[in-house]
Amino acid sequence: MLLKSLLLRNFRNYSNLELEFPCSINLIVGDNAQGKTNLLEAIYFLSTAKSHRTRIDDELIKHGEVFFNLKGRLESRLSSTVVEISKTLSGLKRVKINGKLQRKSSYLIGQTSVVIFSPESLALVKGGPADRRKFLDILISQINPTYLRCLQNYQLVLKQRNKLLKQIREKRATVDLLAPWDKQLIEIGTNIMEMRADIIAKLTSQARERHKELTEADEHLDIVYRRGLNWSDKTDAVQSRSLASESLLRNYNNALYEARDVDILKGTTSIGPHRDDLIIALNNFEARRFGSQGQHRTIALSFKLAEIDLIMSETGELPIVLLDDVASELDQNRAVFLFNLLDRLNAQVFVTTTQLNNLCLLRSPTTSSYGLNLSKCKIFEVKNGIINVSNA
Ligand SMILES: Nc1ncnc2c1ncn2[C@@H]1O[C@H](COP(=O)(O)OP(=O)(O)OP(=O)(O)O)[C@@H](O)[C@H]1O
Ligand SMILES: [Mg+2]
Repeated sequence: MLLKSLLLRNFRNYSNLELEFPCSINLIVGDNAQGKTNLLEAIYFLSTAKSHRTRIDDELIKHGEVFFNLKGRLESRLSSTVVEISKTLSGLKRVKINGKLQRKSSYLIGQTSVVIFSPESLALVKGGPADRRKFLDILISQINPTYLRCLQNYQLVLKQRNKLLKQIREKRATVDLLAPWDKQLIEIGTNIMEMRADIIAKLTSQARERHKELTEADEHLDIVYRRGLNWSDKTDAVQSRSLASESLLRNYNNALYEARDVDILKGTTSIGPHRDDLIIALNNFEARRFGSQGQHRTIALSFKLAEIDLIMSETGELPIVLLDDVASELDQNRAVFLFNLLDRLNAQVFVTTTQLNNLCLLRSPTTSSYGLNLSKCKIFEVKNGIINVSNA
């Protein structure tokens, strides 16, 4: 997948910007607060209809303006697609694919795929379960459009069930009314957990491989899928990973039934995929609690590389890769490893940096290979929302 051109109107600090991307490596260079991350955010938004750093779309509208527009031309092996997104202040987001207005902005997901590595990626390791679920949800949705539909249905049923739980608590409804909602919840929830288990198994083996390469086999990475099936949170993580479909249904049923009184008391559902988590361990110790900053970064990078591998193997297309400030996030060896790999894959990459030298002089002390293949680079110099393009 390649982004061939991009148009921005009133997006963050850009008034009017049109760019072409003929090269695979795009270096976005500029001082702090000039618009580097904003440009990556626009590309991410064009693939997911979401920002990677805010949930409030109105924040993306340039201050003092009342709308933003984004337009991009994407090319895959088989087709060319024009994606347009517009948003008015307090209004709805409109997404067009090849000129056709989409009923839901989420229809965009799966048209293109994108992988971003930024300072925010650390939340994958250091953040809470919701951060890890978000990572999984975006990854699986990009690979399998059915997943996103399941997820949206699940949220609807969950909302209805929670509403009913509150009514039962307030004696405005009876417990027997829960049965049809529980049935639906378990059916969709099981589907979601099965799709998650499948991707997590593949992700784990890829991330382990990548982590081994990055650390020269010094550390052993392990990822365990902990299903949100025990309201007292004592599920045996390893055991729950290998649940077969039938026993998953049985466990889910039992867990939801056991939690019913607590759920009514709290007015919310405590069991299900909305409580799933991933336990990430390094040499058998939970990385979130025992890992160093550098280890967290390396794990996040291993996940991101595994994400690229997985999108490629599952969809047959390379994702667009966005790297925000990696030179300051990773040490020399890891950054060189990353660039060499992306060069080998021939992925389209957008890299931000404050100092071009930080990237061009990247040289691995151990392999003495350079990080960037300059013949494939275009340089985009950003100054206060205005961009100058030159060759490397
Ligand atoms: N909605 C908006 N309207 C106008 N300007 C905005 C808006 N949102 C953010 N900005 C401004 O955009 C500028 C650039 O932000 P961006 O995050 O892209 O910087 P950057 O070049 O990545 O800097 P750094 O190197 O510090 O990460 C900032 O000055 C910020 O205040
Ligand atoms: Mg930035």
